[in-house]
Amino acid sequence: MSDDKPSDARADGPSPDPSGSPSSEPEVFIHPTSEVSDEASVGAGTAIWNWSRIREGAVVGRNVNIGQQVYIDSNVRIGDDCKIQNSVNLYDGLTVGDRVFIGPAVTFTNDLHPRATGDWDITPTTVHDGASIGANATIVCGVTLAAGCMIGAGSVVTKDVAPNTLVVGNPARPIAIIDEHGNRTAAADPAQDPS
Ligand SMILES: CC(C)(COP(=O)(O)OP(=O)(O)OC[C@H]1O[C@@H](n2cnc3c(N)ncnc32)[C@H](O)[C@@H]1OP(=O)(O)O)[C@@H](O)C(=O)NCCC(=O)NCCS
Repeated sequence: MSDDKPSDARADGPSPDPSGSPSSEPEVFIHPTSEVSDEASVGAGTAIWNWSRIREGAVVGRNVNIGQQVYIDSNVRIGDDCKIQNSVNLYDGLTVGDRVFIGPAVTFTNDLHPRATGDWDITPTTVHDGASIGANATIVCGVTLAAGCMIGAGSVVTKDVAPNTLVVGNPARPIAIIDEHGNRTAAADPAQDPS
């Protein structure tokens, strides 16, 4: 862990700052069933719930809520104020911005042509600030999910997603432009359809 993590991280849930001092940081909560590498960095106010694992070199920002059975691989970078729901796997090569929502059982990938033998060939993926990814979506590696976009539940994303754009389906296609609350403001711009 980095110096970001107080040595007295509580096992009974996040708690408000008892001193009320503006200079003291909120605690990191790590459920006792979870495993966080000493070589990972976890920001103040982040909570890591049951049976999750954070590997060496991972960087998790401040006030991130990490659910049950979440795996965060080596070198993954996650920004501040994100919500990562249960049973999510985040693999090496992934960078996530601030205020990103990752729904239950979302699957990221990091090798476009995987084989059981030989080396991994990692293809990076980037998720920008304010993006939301619906439950059980699959994000094929090498794509960029732009700021404020939304991925429908169960979608398979194979191409970049434009800012503030809602995509659904397999393969995922743009269906609308959305505002910061996820409400539709216009039909999708056909020029943004990567098909
Ligand atoms: C994509 C989503 C945001 C669209 O919601 P919406 O704007 O209310 O859209 P609608 O329900 O009016 O559906 C519009 C069309 O898209 C289709 N659609 C909606 N969600 C879809 C999805 N995930 N995959 C494929 N098609 C979808 C609908 O069938 C409908 O098709 P039609 O026009 O042919 O009838 C929503 O369905 C969704 O998937 N939300 C994510 C939920 C989630 O995973 N939450 C995680 C926390 S529990």
